[in-house]
Amino acid sequence: MEAVAIFPQERAAKLTDHPEPSIELPTQVKVRILEVGICGTDREIAFFEYGTPPEGSLYLVIGHESLGEVVEVGPEVTRVRPGELVVTTVRRPCPRPQCVACRAGRQDFCYTGDFTERGIKGMHGFMNEFVVDDEQYLNIVAPELREIAILTEPLTIAEKGLTQVWQIQQRLPWACPVEPGQKPQYCHRAVVIGGGPVGLLGAMVLTAQGFQTYVYSRSSDIETKTHIVESFGAHYVPAETHSVKQMADLVGNIDLVYEAAGASSVAFEVLKVLSPNGVFIFTGVPGRKAPIPMDTDLIVRDLVLENQIVFGTVNAGRDSYEAAIRDLSLFMRRWPDAVRALITARLPISAAPDVLKGKPEGIKNVVQITSA
Ligand code: BGC
Ligand code: ZN
Repeated sequence: MEAVAIFPQERAAKLTDHPEPSIELPTQVKVRILEVGICGTDREIAFFEYGTPPEGSLYLVIGHESLGEVVEVGPEVTRVRPGELVVTTVRRPCPRPQCVACRAGRQDFCYTGDFTERGIKGMHGFMNEFVVDDEQYLNIVAPELREIAILTEPLTIAEKGLTQVWQIQQRLPWACPVEPGQKPQYCHRAVVIGGGPVGLLGAMVLTAQGFQTYVYSRSSDIETKTHIVESFGAHYVPAETHSVKQMADLVGNIDLVYEAAGASSVAFEVLKVLSPNGVFIFTGVPGRKAPIPMDTDLIVRDLVLENQIVFGTVNAGRDSYEAAIRDLSLFMRRWPDAVRALITARLPISAAPDVLKGKPEGIKNVVQITSA
């Protein structure tokens, strides 16, 4: 079958012929891939800055954000049936017996780093017609979500982050004060750094969870971003016209920061304006740039004297996929136009190599593998 693959030795990203997989174990499922999303990680892989082919392979089939349809199931499969739509998780456990995370099915918290990731690290991805995987890695999506279900994987990043925030904030009284007989008031404010798909989906989850949310970002199309963000009840603050200080004055108390730009210098500026008891989540992976001077004493003073928490989060477990699928249907009921607006282009597989290597455009670009 035709596949989009990265050949690190040749330094090429191109279409190639890849053997069609077949079911080999009784719990495996064969999936026809409908769509594959492209993200920043894929671009880095296409520029050979990241990504590893499977052992013994000269190439890596790229693509980890997928939507597919089950076409065949092994004799012991019980969770899915042919015809169902599925989104496949990305990470597979490491083989080390001592890795308690992987042994418990939480490879998104793998200790050893010996995990594999489909389309990223040591395992072929989804940018081709068929994929075979174990049923435990598949998540069922309702047919009504067909149009936007490709956003599931990028949304899982926010879901995993927010799950941790609620766990962490159980350390203190963090509930909003509610007068008897009154509707809950907005009291928590969140700043999202970055207006790409992970940032915008994060802003939607935060808004849905009751945060008054501000997206702080640079953009080549401020008007469109403002429109999308306002249409789901959040606010857009252009970084071109607002310094971090001005943004912070506008927002007020910043209880939570969700960093989804991979821009560490801006992130540390925003960390300085995080409120007492605030939480700062890093999700973006910065490219390596020159070191920048930083007032580390000031940062540590605030962390200690204001009970602040900074954490990083990567990948996602099954619970986050389930939450993402639930939230996508909530978003489609509340803000269908905003959700649809995140998918800015659908391209044929033949266009994928050039899009991976070209200038990033739009919000989420999706490669159509099968039109069904
Ligand atoms: C993917 C994650 C993956 C991470 C690091 C991200 O783009 O969404 O699933 O763990 O890259 O490889
Ligand atoms: Zn991704």
